Amino acid sequence: MAKLWGTRFSKGLDPSVLKFTSSIHFDKKLAIYDIDGSMAHAAMLGKKGIIPKKDAKRLVSGLKALRKGFQKGTVKLDESKHEDIHSAVTEMLAKKIGKVAKERLHTARSRNDQVGLDMKMYCKDKIDGLVDCVTYLQKSLLNFAGKNINVIIPAYTHLQHAQCILMSHQIIAYVEMLERDKERLLGCKKRTDEMPLGSCALRGTSLNIDREAVARALGFSRITQNSIDAISDRDFIMELLAALMIMGIHLSRFAEDMILWSTKEFSFVEIDDSLATGSSMMPNKKNPDVLELIRGLSGNIYANLSSVTVMMKGLPLSYNRDLQLDKVPLFSSVETLQEVLPLTAKLVKTLKVNKANIKKKIGEDEFLFATDIAEFLVKKGYSYRKAHDITGRIIKYCIKGNKKISDIPQKRLKSFSDVLNVKVIKGIVDPERSVASVKSKGGTNPTMVKSAIKRWRRKLGNA
Ligand code: ARG
Repeated sequence: MAKLWGTRFSKGLDPSVLKFTSSIHFDKKLAIYDIDGSMAHAAMLGKKGIIPKKDAKRLVSGLKALRKGFQKGTVKLDESKHEDIHSAVTEMLAKKIGKVAKERLHTARSRNDQVGLDMKMYCKDKIDGLVDCVTYLQKSLLNFAGKNINVIIPAYTHLQHAQCILMSHQIIAYVEMLERDKERLLGCKKRTDEMPLGSCALRGTSLNIDREAVARALGFSRITQNSIDAISDRDFIMELLAALMIMGIHLSRFAEDMILWSTKEFSFVEIDDSLATGSSMMPNKKNPDVLELIRGLSGNIYANLSSVTVMMKGLPLSYNRDLQLDKVPLFSSVETLQEVLPLTAKLVKTLKVNKANIKKKIGEDEFLFATDIAEFLVKKGYSYRKAHDITGRIIKYCIKGNKKISDIPQKRLKSFSDVLNVKVIKGIVDPERSVASVKSKGGTNPTMVKSAIKRWRRKLGNA
């Protein structure tokens, strides 16, 4: 195996140590970024006259060809031959263009700043892709909300019936959550947008490099300002993992809502057959395994964050090999969400709403209108405490007598309050009127929910 070091050693590396320290089997995912970074570096070295111009040219065109090969899949990486992606790129380049690759490319560069660069390029790139996936899911949720704008469901606190809301109102809650996730990702991208190359092993170099030129060539808006920080910093990875962890939790909560809503007990929605699974024993089963895995994977995503933060804690500045362990958890969270986000969108797009059943469920529980009664009483001049108390007594009366609120006779109603009568109660115990009565901004009133959908569509563009 060819390594980028070794001359000062008088013994070859123990094969078990080589296997233990190698990272090629996972950092190969950085190949394209490593090549692009190397190209910008080589071009700069040539321009500054640090290496002969003709060597720089050969390096750049060789790297271009290597990049094409990687993209087309014609270049095959032999993992047994390389220690990490950085040595692999140099080695494979040497095969193409000869020894100039090994002799010149690594001038004024260390794998320490190189790996920092590769990781930042990876993060910036993946953030863009993830943001697009989130927008796509938001649009699917908005479409679902728009299609089912008039569906009224019981809303829950403590998983107990609370009040009537528009189903679309709850769906848009997820659009809001996902927007915050996107903002976190983009904020993280802004802080990742600092080019570390040129920090070299840890203190910079006496060679007259142009770091700004490399930053410009690679699409970074600025360079890192302290070489020790640049080598040691993995904040951008922890931050991205934290943002993904919160997103994972949002998707898990959405999955949980849909799992509940698709149970026989709720039966608000039905998952499309193409996205559900069966049982090997029970022929009747239709299971929400996709949603359960989305919920379960949020655990892995959370573990990936703790894995890196615990690894970082207590590391002395600057580079330590522990830092190599940031990759597998990062790639895992990114790849999991790259898969989960479009799948969630697919699920939303094909989700059917059991309107008749929902209507029946609402009709079975007039206690959903208790707050409506209390607020009616407030409008008639009662304090909220008093109104709460009167409505509580009405509920108690109904529970004891196993009655519906709309079954209470006129005389009995009057005994709770003389502003109550059968006609008033009939008016209140009406889901459409109930949601339409909400006046506070951000509430479930259909007019407000419709304009929320419009506002989101304007912001996100049509699906
Ligand atoms: N594979 C290493 C990592 O991912 C690359 C940097 C190695 N540098 C070193 N001095 N050992 O962190």
